[in-house]
Amino acid sequence: MSRRRKRSSKRKKKRNKARYAADQRITAHQLNAEELAVQQSKGEAARKQVLTMAAPKQQVRVHIRWMIKGDMPEVLAIEHASFDFPWCEEDFLQVLRQRNCIGMVAELGERVVGFMIYELHETRLNVLDFAVHPEFRRQSVGKQMNDKLVGKLSSHRRTRIVTLVRETNLCAQIFWRELKWKAVEVIREHYQDTGEDAFVMHYCYDETRYEEYLQGPLPNSSTSRGYLP
Ligand SMILES: CC(C)(COP(=O)(O)OP(=O)(O)OC[C@H]1O[C@@H](n2cnc3c(N)ncnc32)[C@H](O)[C@@H]1OP(=O)(O)O)[C@@H](O)C(=O)NCCC(=O)NCCS
Repeated sequence: MSRRRKRSSKRKKKRNKARYAADQRITAHQLNAEELAVQQSKGEAARKQVLTMAAPKQQVRVHIRWMIKGDMPEVLAIEHASFDFPWCEEDFLQVLRQRNCIGMVAELGERVVGFMIYELHETRLNVLDFAVHPEFRRQSVGKQMNDKLVGKLSSHRRTRIVTLVRETNLCAQIFWRELKWKAVEVIREHYQDTGEDAFVMHYCYDETRYEEYLQGPLPNSSTSRGYLP
């Protein structure tokens, strides 16, 4: 074989080796994600969701403010892009009419890129709805909204935040877990639309007191369409 041919065949081998290594990495990543899906939800939908998860991007800084009526079209668009069984405008208005219910939006420039709805209770916050526009995911918008919620807790008054997550909603489960929330209970077949289980997720102001909180009864939500039973 000529020297030039030898060099070219060496280069080819090297390229193939690099490609193989990259494939192995992807496969390993997908396998881990799949294992997680099978463990946590067993669902085909969940497996697909994990394999198409958004990759992290550059972070953006959002401004979080109270929701106003004029935000509703953007909020509804995010809601519809985020859930298979979205709330309609009347659902939002019904919850937001309650005195203890608060809506907030995350704004990037003039654009609403995320929102959350939560209830204030004497000792806790109940998150009823929480979503980020698909185009702005993995840019730390959700994290900043979570920080805003956590900033409302204190050691002597509201000490925890609670929400429910569908068993197939792996992105949300990973997201909350990353932000130090814990899944503390499973409510079997909680969702009437699909028969899915709900994971009760808690965030505690004082991590060392998790046990104490968990011994109390599960909180009830006053809303009929909230994530909480
Ligand atoms: C869950 C959701 C709110 C997360 O919002 P987000 O703005 O993308 O989250 P962030 O960028 O702040 O993510 C913070 C960390 O959570 C983890 N995370 C968030 N989304 C993830 C995903 N799809 N896959 C893996 N990890 C994820 C990552 O560790 C991420 O940090 P990184 O991007 O630096 O790796 C968003 O995916 C969403 O709106 N989903 C649809 C609606 C929904 O499920 N709401 C929750 C109902 S309980």
